[in-house]
Amino acid sequence: MSNFLSASIGRKVFMSLTGLFLISFLSLHLTLNLLLIFDDTGVLFNQAAYFMATNPMIKIMEPILALGFIIHIIWAGWITLDNMRARPQGYASGDQLLKWWAPSKNMFILGGMILVFLILHIFNFWVKLKITGDPLLSKPTGTGIEMHNTYELVKTLFVNFPLYDVLYVIGGILVGLHLSHGFWSAFQTIGLSNINWMKRLKCLANLIGIIFAVGFSAIPIYFLLKF
Ligand code: HEM
Repeated sequence: MSNFLSASIGRKVFMSLTGLFLISFLSLHLTLNLLLIFDDTGVLFNQAAYFMATNPMIKIMEPILALGFIIHIIWAGWITLDNMRARPQGYASGDQLLKWWAPSKNMFILGGMILVFLILHIFNFWVKLKITGDPLLSKPTGTGIEMHNTYELVKTLFVNFPLYDVLYVIGGILVGLHLSHGFWSAFQTIGLSNINWMKRLKCLANLIGIIFAVGFSAIPIYFLLKF
């Protein structure tokens, strides 16, 4: 098993599987976040956030999710470094090599930018919710249950700090671009390379990329325009 994980193909398979796992988290995350724009009282979003914070299954998933991100990032760095060592610039001039190399290099750069966004994002919300606290979280939610006012935390950031709106739109677009390649590439790595399926998967990957980019960007834009 450890030989498989460190062999080149094993590393790629492992990255693909963690990538698909992260896509399933992001789908849930986007769906719940969209509640922010469907109810301006914030009740709907706060109830969903409360459910996520108190549900035992989600509590078990949190460290697994963090591990998924860490493994995906470390393995990406490892594979890219190996590729760079194996294909010094002068050698990688043939068409075939360039074709293979260019998207994976782009994926690494996009992934790195998403990582910077993610660190900022975790400080914006997660750190305040789980570690430092924030006076906004104690505002009444109108739900009748004692819970964090996560809606107020998100709304205040997007309404009062337009720079963050720009950064979150960029973050959403980066995630969309990353997935429009990563989704089909993950299936190819785990063995689904049939030409007909690849065409469909590439279409689906583009659709997923657009949904994530538009979905995540719509939220800060909504707050900026509405309030
Ligand atoms: C408009 C866009 C977004 C909003 C409003 C948003 C909102 C939030 C909030 C409120 C939390 C804290 C949840 C909690 O701990 O109870 C959170 C956590 C998190 N977000 Fe986002 N998010 C957005 C985009 C993204 C994107 C694009 C990514 C991925 C690159 C992402 C990844 C995460 C991760 C990994 C966590 C920590 C795990 C968790 O607490 O669920 N988010 N987000």
